Amino acid sequence: MDHSVEQILNKPVFEREDLIVLLNADKKERELIFRKAAEVKKEFVGNKVYFRGLVELSNICSKNCYYCGIRSGNKVVDRYFVSDDEVLEAARYAMDNGYGSMVIQSGERTDKVFVKKVTNMLEKIKALSDGKLGITLSMGEQTEETYRQWYASGAHRYLLRIESSNPDLYYKIHPNDARHSFDYRLNALRLLRKVGYNVGTGVMIGLPFQTIDDLAGDLLFFRDMDIDMAGMGPYIEHKDTPLYQYRNILMPKADRFYLSLKMVAILRIMMKDINIAATTAMQTLDKQGREKALKVGANIIMPNLTPVKYREGYLLYEDKPCINEEASECKNCLEARIHIAGDEIGYGEWGDSKHFAARKQSNN
Ligand code: 5AD
Ligand code: SF4
Ligand code: FES
Repeated sequence: MDHSVEQILNKPVFEREDLIVLLNADKKERELIFRKAAEVKKEFVGNKVYFRGLVELSNICSKNCYYCGIRSGNKVVDRYFVSDDEVLEAARYAMDNGYGSMVIQSGERTDKVFVKKVTNMLEKIKALSDGKLGITLSMGEQTEETYRQWYASGAHRYLLRIESSNPDLYYKIHPNDARHSFDYRLNALRLLRKVGYNVGTGVMIGLPFQTIDDLAGDLLFFRDMDIDMAGMGPYIEHKDTPLYQYRNILMPKADRFYLSLKMVAILRIMMKDINIAATTAMQTLDKQGREKALKVGANIIMPNLTPVKYREGYLLYEDKPCINEEASECKNCLEARIHIAGDEIGYGEWGDSKHFAARKQSNN
């Protein structure tokens, strides 16, 4: 069996053992992975990066994930809900500035009031933009009926991270109760696909108790699930969360960053035509984190459009960037970063995953 990084990179399909070798690649070897990922990106998705204007709609959450700063058990957070008018203002900004799409993310709620509120909001955004603005939702696990309702109201992509594809690890980072069921989450991903969304998922990298074998399993999970989009980033500790007590067993930040970068690069090589986000968390651990992610395969960036007055309220982790920057500042900043990475911006386009189009054509 071949064990060298170079030999593995020439294989058409990676097995679990191959992924473990790649994820363990040292400083010199990882450059080979990054180079290959850059080539794959260039060939299969090109050098266009798509903007998704991000609105963090609300930090009210019914869940209590052990890693997250806005979990329901954290009583020191002031809870907010962005008004419809403010969301529409962000939508208008996105349109006026040629962002093809928005991402609307929120703490998880399944009550009727919330579901209806989101439905109405989607309809308003669609009306405002004459159906032109693409909408991605990231609102956790919902019933099939809710997913259908939101799809019918104009959302066509959905992000739901699996966080970890290993159920044992999943239950170390979430409470083990009916509200945090691994199986329910897995089923939610299947429902999203059934309803017709472009489906995205992802994991955190460098979690306490996570092994390289877990991460290899995550990559295999993405391939098996045939996902259209991925969003991955390093786990970053937050002092008001239960996982904070394990901060001393975490990988050093630089290692966590490079492991995250390897995950992006390897996934690009494995799933050549999906959309991969250069996530904000990457930038928390490295000032040039997002550019570096773009260079090794990412092709999506989410400039923050949440009204600045709410941003402090959406700190899922510490040292989150762009807390005080207005939409226009993030836009200029990201434009510069994308150019530094040698890419260009796909203004005014939805930039849907090519993988989604291909699987629609083959009809499954
Ligand atoms: N560090 C990094 N990512 C986090 N998320 C939540 N908490 C943290 C953290 N402490 C991520 C989760 C979730 C997404 C919205 O934010 O992966 O799915
Ligand atoms: Fe809520 Fe999402 Fe944070 Fe979990 S990760 S507590 S579901 S906002
Ligand atoms: Fe917000 Fe750089 S992206 S300031």
